[in-house]
Amino acid sequence: MKLLQIDSSILGDASASRQLTREVVATLQAADPDLELTYRDLSKDVTVHLSGATFAAKGTPAEKRNLAQKLEVELNEAILNEFLAADVIVLGAPMYNFTVPTQLKAWIDQICVAGVTFSYSDKGPEGLAKGKRVVIVSTTGGKHAGGPTGIAHEDYLKVLFGFLGITEIEVVRADGLNYGPEAKEAGFAAARSRIGSLTSAAALV
Ligand SMILES: Cc1cc2nc3c(=O)[nH]c(=O)nc-3n(C[C@H](O)[C@H](O)[C@H](O)COP(=O)(O)O)c2cc1C
Repeated sequence: MKLLQIDSSILGDASASRQLTREVVATLQAADPDLELTYRDLSKDVTVHLSGATFAAKGTPAEKRNLAQKLEVELNEAILNEFLAADVIVLGAPMYNFTVPTQLKAWIDQICVAGVTFSYSDKGPEGLAKGKRVVIVSTTGGKHAGGPTGIAHEDYLKVLFGFLGITEIEVVRADGLNYGPEAKEAGFAAARSRIGSLTSAAALV
């Protein structure tokens, strides 16, 4: 079974989501030592933002691509293939300005490919990335879950992965992290309690 760990926080060692994605992965690995781990740090990789140039690069025959186009397409394919190959995706998703970091949005733009991860027909949309499990590690300074200020963050990610055909979506949430030391501790405790429950056999694909 393959696990893809994605971090997107810009806060390096001070990042809450990085700490918690590590703990999620360690927990899943303890339950299944054969898990094959792939790691991508979106704050370090050159994440290509979707643009006309990116589309043009993809539409240009391989032998006619210039170096920049070649590198763009290679990164795009690597990101897409990692996603397609993964059985479990552990996604570090901090809230920045009420939504996900721009680096994570750029990754999402790379994995949403018509005909590969979703399709449209007269019956409507169909997700083609079925059978995967996503663990969203949601970290926020305030508290937004279930309210209107959370819709472009956790709710958005659930809609997005649901659109791609993924039904096993779990959230490990640490919120209120900027409300003072006690709230921060409570936020981490809640997340860790949720991580503890991921070890159950039913939680593994
Ligand atoms: C650029 C930036 C924007 C932020 N915007 C929000 C926000 O809109 N709402 C919120 O509740 N917290 C916000 N925060 C706080 C983060 O969600 C909080 O620090 C969280 O721990 C980030 O996860 P990380 O430590 O893994 O980066 C912001 C933090 C940064 C650095």
